[in-house]
Amino acid sequence: MVTRMNIAASTNIPLEQWTDNERLRAWIQAMVDKCRPDAIHLCDGSEEEYDSLCELMVKKGTLTRLNDSKRPNSYLCRSNPADVARVEDRTFICSQNKEDAGPTNNWCDPQEMRQKLSDLFEGCMQGRTMYVVPFSMGPLGSPIAHIGIEITDSPYVVASMRIMTRMGADVLKVLGKGDFVPAMHSVGAPLAVGEKDSPWPCNAENKYIVHFPESREIWSYGSGYGGNSLLGKKCFALRIASVMARDEGWLAEHMLILGITNPQGVRKYIAAAFPSACGKTNLAMLQPTLPGWKVECVGDDIAWMKFGKDGRLRAINPEYGFFGVAPGTSYSSNPNAMRSIERNSMFTNVALTDDGDVWWEEMSEEPPKHAVDWKGKDWTAESGEKAAHPNARFTAPASQCPVIDPSWEDPEGVPISAIIFGGRRATNVPLVCEALSWNHGVFMGASVSSQTTAAAAGAVGKLRHDPFAMLPFCGYHMGDYFGHWVNVGQQHDASKLPRIYNVNWFKKDDKGAFLWPGFGENSRVLKWIFERTNGAQNAVESPLGYLPAPGELDTTGLDISPEQLKQLFNVDREAWLNETQGTRQYFEIFGDRLPKALRDELEALEARLRG
Ligand code: OXD
Ligand code: MN
Repeated sequence: MVTRMNIAASTNIPLEQWTDNERLRAWIQAMVDKCRPDAIHLCDGSEEEYDSLCELMVKKGTLTRLNDSKRPNSYLCRSNPADVARVEDRTFICSQNKEDAGPTNNWCDPQEMRQKLSDLFEGCMQGRTMYVVPFSMGPLGSPIAHIGIEITDSPYVVASMRIMTRMGADVLKVLGKGDFVPAMHSVGAPLAVGEKDSPWPCNAENKYIVHFPESREIWSYGSGYGGNSLLGKKCFALRIASVMARDEGWLAEHMLILGITNPQGVRKYIAAAFPSACGKTNLAMLQPTLPGWKVECVGDDIAWMKFGKDGRLRAINPEYGFFGVAPGTSYSSNPNAMRSIERNSMFTNVALTDDGDVWWEEMSEEPPKHAVDWKGKDWTAESGEKAAHPNARFTAPASQCPVIDPSWEDPEGVPISAIIFGGRRATNVPLVCEALSWNHGVFMGASVSSQTTAAAAGAVGKLRHDPFAMLPFCGYHMGDYFGHWVNVGQQHDASKLPRIYNVNWFKKDDKGAFLWPGFGENSRVLKWIFERTNGAQNAVESPLGYLPAPGELDTTGLDISPEQLKQLFNVDREAWLNETQGTRQYFEIFGDRLPKALRDELEALEARLRG
């Protein structure tokens, strides 16, 4: 017989004082009864709370404080090597009907899953503290923002949520007696009395990242890592929010948001979807090589977009921090990211240098002579091993970004002029191409494929379809999701809708060398897009859509040959007809939920290619 824990005697603040939201109180009591933690910590989001959690984790061996003279107030964390990335095959969308999850999601009967979770969560926090974390996705009180409450037994999650979301007591004030998304998390490693904890507890065999879209609930078990455990991010802001967006007529997307200003001082905003670890953070903080142009960052991963009173699509970044891929990030590839992580940051699975700082592959041209690698072992460049895990991450406050956009916290959001889709493609896909219409743009988004990266567990470098970069993140049937995008286009004034583009920074020549330098030079592509949305007649029509007219992509000062440029925009009709066959086959999986508009677009593309 389980005795009911007396919450009043176990919390740091009396629950009644902390919140008057009855649904929230009842949920906390129910979760306490189920998970049976040793103590309950109701978070206030203060700096003191953050500091004391970090101190606790240093004592436990979870964190190492970095050298304050190198990287003030920052920590290194090493995860369990069995818990280093999102686990897509353990991620479930448990809609009432299997068909509503669609062919791209793992589905499990909600009743069955609830039973499974009930068994797993039973007593799962024994020997641990349960933390209750109120968070807002988006500026507090913004009409585009929503509130969630995460319950977790991981202090690493609490500390990370304080960086990644607006978290704490102020959120409860805005919540009042209103509605929230409950997000339940446990590392799945209860401790017996006297049992010593490990620095990174997790449950390597039993991981479940579960979403109930109809009741808007999240349950995550067994992993402490990133998108599996910081439940505001992928679970709420994409999987659950995509369902809310469908029902309420808005868009929750895996997109960065940037502001771009031309030399005359005109600013426009662009949202861009790329699959995980394909350079979204680099693009969001890009330093233009074009004189007089400026790029500023609103967000680097997720966009929530609703239509404003003016009929324009307005976007907020629901997050408050960056959870970026560290390897490859350097003062030359992304100086603004490097400056964002100079202090008050958390680093997971990177290497520790002998002077108490962090290092990862490509962070500097010269690797350190010696370091301790992400697994805690001695490392030298000769060891033949990676010093940092390929999915090692930095977690840093967005406010520290030197090019954070002045409107990044505007509760009304920023007006979006262009939407970009992209992926990692060695062949076929040109450097940039504008859709002929909204529906053609939706087709472009739906037919994106990209080489896989280390952001998810599994093979790296395999080409897979990743429509809208949402394959792992859409909380419902992808065919319906495409339909939602088509509807959005139908329901709004076409002259106010953003224009849609496809880009590819990763095209290679026949010797395998990249044709385009990328990084800051991508500002040349952004300039062309900016000018298109400003009404410039700077394009030619091709079977794929509008391409830059000869001489209209600004290549001043760029070391690129006419032959390379030709290859970047070459439309190989034969190869493209093969590509459309692949798209046709892929579209089959959506059955009759594939909108007719997309079938029509596919046929129109084939006709243009043959024509
Ligand atoms: C991320 C991802 O962490 O897409 O942003 O995996
Ligand atoms: Mn992402």
